[in-house]
Order: sequence, then structure tokens, then C-alpha cells
Amino acid sequence: MFETLPAPKLDGIIGLMQAFAADTRADKIDLGVGVYRDAQGRTPIMRAVKQAEARILEQQDSKSYLSLAGDAAFLTTMEALLLGGAVPSARVAAVGTPGGTAAVRQICELIAKVRPGATVWVSAQTWPNHGPLIAAAGLKARPYRYLDAEAGALDRAGMFADLGAAQAGEVVLLHGCCHNPTGVDLSPQDWAEMGALLERTGAVPFVDMAYQGFGDGLDADAGGLRHLAARLPEVLIAASCSKNFGLYRDRVGIAMVVVPEGQRDAMAATLAGLNRQSFAFPPDHGGRVVSTILGDPMLRAVWLEELDEMRARVQTNRRALAEALRDASGSDRMGAVAAQQGMFSILPLSEAQVTKLREDDGIYMLWDGRVNMAGMDPSRAGDVARAVAEVMRG
Ligand code: LMR
Repeated sequence: MFETLPAPKLDGIIGLMQAFAADTRADKIDLGVGVYRDAQGRTPIMRAVKQAEARILEQQDSKSYLSLAGDAAFLTTMEALLLGGAVPSARVAAVGTPGGTAAVRQICELIAKVRPGATVWVSAQTWPNHGPLIAAAGLKARPYRYLDAEAGALDRAGMFADLGAAQAGEVVLLHGCCHNPTGVDLSPQDWAEMGALLERTGAVPFVDMAYQGFGDGLDADAGGLRHLAARLPEVLIAASCSKNFGLYRDRVGIAMVVVPEGQRDAMAATLAGLNRQSFAFPPDHGGRVVSTILGDPMLRAVWLEELDEMRARVQTNRRALAEALRDASGSDRMGAVAAQQGMFSILPLSEAQVTKLREDDGIYMLWDGRVNMAGMDPSRAGDVARAVAEVMRG
């Protein structure tokens, strides 16, 4: 039956992870996959997570099925984390999903249920898996301008000009914060303008929130999402707890939809039905860790302290690389890197230059020049910058 099945091309990020793991050079540097690393290059289990897990191990007395939406406490604590009371709970439907990836997929399936083949506007540079997830649900991705590569900043005029053509029945995918891969975010004024544009066009926003807490802090990072939720009748949301709780392999995500008053129950049942068709019950362990932390003031304080440490470290790495790039290249061409947000930035490198850095220097980054600041200790910033400057000189 499957004798003619071709082997698909491996996802680029996953391929890079495998290549890095197989590289035997001791001084290799992983700026590829978006995973946090400490000064020793480890991705530690967060202290609050360990404590919550100990409590769960001690107290949990059953692993029988829960509802298709998952643990109710996970859903309500995540609603508060994301929306901060911006809309009444009577307008919010949500289900747990295996990670943020499945949340994106479930929201795409939801869109396809009511608008098969609908257009989803995506920033021209985006997470490489957005396109495949949108296509897998039979939807069409359409790019809008986002990055002004020369300035390393938002192409505001281009973005709003392109999205001015969005229509009712179409969807606009936005990164809640810490845009992946550019590190360029919307300002509060940009979010307000986006809200006005969506109101005018009738297109529905779809906010992907994978890095809450890694930009300016938990509430500030959700400011744009909360503005849209308070202003518009419908908002689609996919969120991940991989990064801010360090729960990567436990797969903790949530698909959430803000609807007009009176439509919540139908939406909640639809999302539950979508879960039933793909994996039935979302994994429970990681979600329970999250709700245990968010629901306990002491554990929450421990978590916040560590999240603050992680954010500060990523910012320190970012500044160290920006400074080292200036010193090594003798120019300020990549100076904007210092002001960008979250784990990622794009360096102005060709795919051939990226390959050369990997092969000659053991420096791993995505094919489009995306670097993960969290993967680099400041002590290695000089090595990275010198190699980048050299490859750019040709
Ligand atoms: C990334 O962009 O590197 C992360 O979101 C990991 C992933 O699943 O691709």
C-alpha cells in the first residue's frame, strides 16, 4: 500500500536539532531551535515545576479520563494569565492541547469547519511550521509585509497597507509577543491600530502566544491580545507553556476562542469535538503542573522569579551579541538586534553563509539567519560575532 510513499522533507528546525546533536565538536554552539539554555548550556526543569510535580505525585489519586477539554483549573488559570480579565469568562471557550503546535492546528481546523479554504494572513517572516499547519487544515496562507530588514524594525506602513485588503471571513495571524523569527513586536499604538483595522475589515485575529513572559513581562506581553479581546467580537488564540514553564516535552498548550455573549457553549462543544477527532483527551500532567503553580501564591512567586531570571539572561545574551557584532564588523548594521524582543533575531546572512558557519565553525542557526539568543552564553558572543563578520566579508 505504501510502496510509492515518498519520504517527506524533514522539518528544518527538527533537522537542525538532529544535526546539532550528532555534531561531535566540543565547542559547537546551538542558536537553532527555540529552547532556553542556562550558562551551562542546560535546559533545566524550573524550580516551581519540580515542586508542583512533587505535590502532584504525593496528592494525585487517579489518572482516569477527564473531560475532552482537559483539567478545568488549567483552563481557568490560563484564561487569567492570557486575558487578565479583559473579557468576561462567559465569552471565553477553551480546550487543552498537546503543546502550542496542536493549539494552532486545532484553531486552523476550527476555521476550516466554518470557512473551508479560508485565507489566513501571515507575516512574511513567521514560524516555519505556521504554513504547514495552515495548509494541513486546507486553508490558504497569504503573506503580509512585516520586517523592514534594513532598519531591523517593523514595516508598519507595509503591514497595514497589506492587511487593509483583508476581508470578513478571513483571518489575520499575529504573534502575541516576541515575534518568531524577527524579534520585532507591535507597540501598544500598533496594536490599537491593528484593532481598528480588524474592526473596519471584519477579519478575525488569531493570536499565537508562545513566549509570554520573555518580552517585557507577563502582563505587558499580553497587552496586545487583551486589547483585541476587549475590542472585537471574536479572537482566536493558541498558547504554549513550553517556554515560559519550560515544559517542552510534556506538551502543554491551549486553544482558546473569545466569542460574543451567548455563543460560548457552542464554541466549547465544537473545540471539544475537534479534540475528540484528533487525540481525544489532552495530556494532563503538564497542564496540572501549570494550574498548580498558577493557583498557589508561593509556587507562583517561585515561578515568576525564575521566569524573570530567564528573561534577563536572554536580554543579556542579546546585548552581548549586538555589542560583539558591532566590534567584530566595525559597523552598526546589526545594531537593531539589541532592541528586538524575546529569543529570536534574524541576522542578514544568506543560506550559503549560514551553511558555512555551521560547517566551518559549528555555529547552528536557521537557514534564514534566525538566531536563538537563549542558546548562546555571553562568553561565546565574541566567537559568534567574529565568525559572522568573517563570513559576511566573504
Ligand atoms: C522554534 O521555533 O524553534 C520553536 O518554536 C520550536 C518548534 O517547535 O519549532
